[in-house]
Amino acid sequence: MIKYLACILLALQLSSVAFAHLCLFDPPQRQPNWGVPIGSGDNACYQVESNCGNTTAGSPVALYTAGSTIQVFFQQNYNHWYAPNPGFLDVGISYGGDNGNYIQLSQTISDFNAWDMVSQTNYTVSVTLPIQSCKSCVLRVRYVSNNAGEPYPDFYQCSDIALE
Ligand SMILES: *[C@@H]1O[C@H](CO)[C@@H](O)[C@H](O)[C@H]1NC(C)=O
Ligand SMILES: *[C@@H]1O[C@H](CO)[C@@H](O)[C@H](O)[C@H]1NC(C)=O
Repeated sequence: MIKYLACILLALQLSSVAFAHLCLFDPPQRQPNWGVPIGSGDNACYQVESNCGNTTAGSPVALYTAGSTIQVFFQQNYNHWYAPNPGFLDVGISYGGDNGNYIQLSQTISDFNAWDMVSQTNYTVSVTLPIQSCKSCVLRVRYVSNNAGEPYPDFYQCSDIALE
C-alpha cells in the first residue's frame, strides 16, 4: 500500500511526467528521447497501450541477420512488483505491424520484488530471431506488472527492425 501511495505521490510531483516504467535501449525504441543518464521515471519510458503505446512505426533502426541470436537491452525503469499475482517481462516480434501476432522470442522473465519502486534494473536478454526475413518488423518488449494498484499495469516499448 505504501508503495502505491509513493507511486501516486511521485506521479503528482512529476505531474506531466506521470509514470514511466520500461525503456528499450537496444535496438532503440521509438522516440528514444530519454535523459542521459536515464533517470527513474523518464517520460520516454512510459507507453501503456498495447502493443506499442502511442508511437508510430518508422523506418527500421536496426538490421539483423534472420535466424541470428542478438542481445536485447532494456530497463525496468520502475518496479511494480505485485505479490498477489507477480508479473513478467518478455520480448516478442511481429511480422504484421504493431497489432499483429507476436512470436515470443524470450523466455518469460519473472518480475521481482525490488522493494523500492524507483529501482532501475537493466536486462540484457539473448534472443534468437526467426529465419523469416522482413523489411520492417516490430520488436516489442513488455512489462506486464499485473499490479492492481496501477492505473495502467502494462508497459510497452517497440523498435522497428529489419531481418535479412
Ligand atoms: C494515446 O493516444 C490516444 C489518442 O490520441 C489518447 O486518447 C490516449 O489518452 C493516449 N494515451 C496515453 C496514455 O497518453
Ligand atoms: C543501465 O543502462 C543505462 C543505459 O545504458 C545506463 O545508463 C545505466 O548506467 C545502467 N545501469 C546499470 C546499473 O548498469
